[in-house]
Amino acid sequence: MNELLTIAELIEKLKEISPVPASKVLFGTSGSEANDMQIKLSWYYNNARGKREKKKIISRQRAYHGVTIASGSLTGLAFAHTDFDLPIARILHTDCPHYYRGGRPGESEEAFAARLAGSLEELILREGPDTVAAFFAEPVMGAGGVIVPPATYFDRVQPILKKYEILFVVDEVICGFGRTGHMFGSQTFDLKPDIMTLAKALSAGYVPISANLVSGSVYDVLLTQSDKLGIFGHGYTYSSHPVPAAVALETLKIYQERDIVAQVRRVGPRLQEGIRGCSDHPLIGEARGIGLIGAVEIVRDKATKQSFDPKAGVAAYLVRRAQHHGAILRNMPGDIVAFSPPLVISEAEIDELMGCFRRALDDTWAMVKEKGLV
Ligand SMILES: Cc1ncc(COP(=O)(O)O)c(C=O)c1O
Repeated sequence: MNELLTIAELIEKLKEISPVPASKVLFGTSGSEANDMQIKLSWYYNNARGKREKKKIISRQRAYHGVTIASGSLTGLAFAHTDFDLPIARILHTDCPHYYRGGRPGESEEAFAARLAGSLEELILREGPDTVAAFFAEPVMGAGGVIVPPATYFDRVQPILKKYEILFVVDEVICGFGRTGHMFGSQTFDLKPDIMTLAKALSAGYVPISANLVSGSVYDVLLTQSDKLGIFGHGYTYSSHPVPAAVALETLKIYQERDIVAQVRRVGPRLQEGIRGCSDHPLIGEARGIGLIGAVEIVRDKATKQSFDPKAGVAAYLVRRAQHHGAILRNMPGDIVAFSPPLVISEAEIDELMGCFRRALDDTWAMVKEKGLV
């Protein structure tokens, strides 16, 4: 196999399916590393434009963008910062778009979205628009708790980014390749990324590979700068390695052959009904999700949304019980339990998964009552 041809073919395939206009593609080996590079690209881009002060990056509380020094700084979760001396300078965090936790009494979902967009604009104005380079967002926040953005949130955020010439970096490491019912989360939420980060499902997780998709207009500016400097001084030994490129290419072919997006749209509603169907359980504060990703938030008191003492490890217990019954779920900070089944799951398997989950919920309810936690 001609190695360069494989890489070129993968680039063409990604360009064909990507919502990033006239995209150019750079490869790496992990989502963290790719997000680090997105920061470097935003800085290089603004140096090329002579905007040497335009370097701050805005991320969001509860975002997950990785754990390297820069991507860990973008991450808005305490465990990624505490005692690692993070975040580094010039990385800021704006509000998390979680309506269930962040919405004020009587505030509609849209009013909440408008308030958050207003708060983002205030932050930009306070810092100075000429100092802000980029805004990072996952379409659906994954490791922060599967947070689906409230209606109109991104519709309100995107014009603000445009207004202040702030690059929109969309992290599709979880949402990319069908998870939300479109090939990319950007399509599900009508996002117009300037740059996009891909990893995980790019190779179905079988080999390490990530990709930075850069829009043509951003790329042209980067090119001017590298021409001026005589070099584009970034690249790893394993950037564009032909082995993961071949695996990624084959993966994309399989997604296409099996029409993975249609499959997610077919079975996704069954998972969402299953998860939301658990809302009546006394332990579930919120049940949420989209496509083949979802979560429940475990609470001590549904009316007040009060959580259990984290030390009680209620969600961890639930996840252990689910595993005992046959389902692998993920426990996240804040007693959130996430579902992210294989994209090829069938409706019958979803029913089985939800059966395991319901049994685990009942076990957990029995445990919290027995221990006097409720
Ligand atoms: C949205 C998102 N971005 C970035 C990353 C980091 O990717 P990696 O673990 O490959 O460094 C992850 C990992 O879970 C992720 O979910």
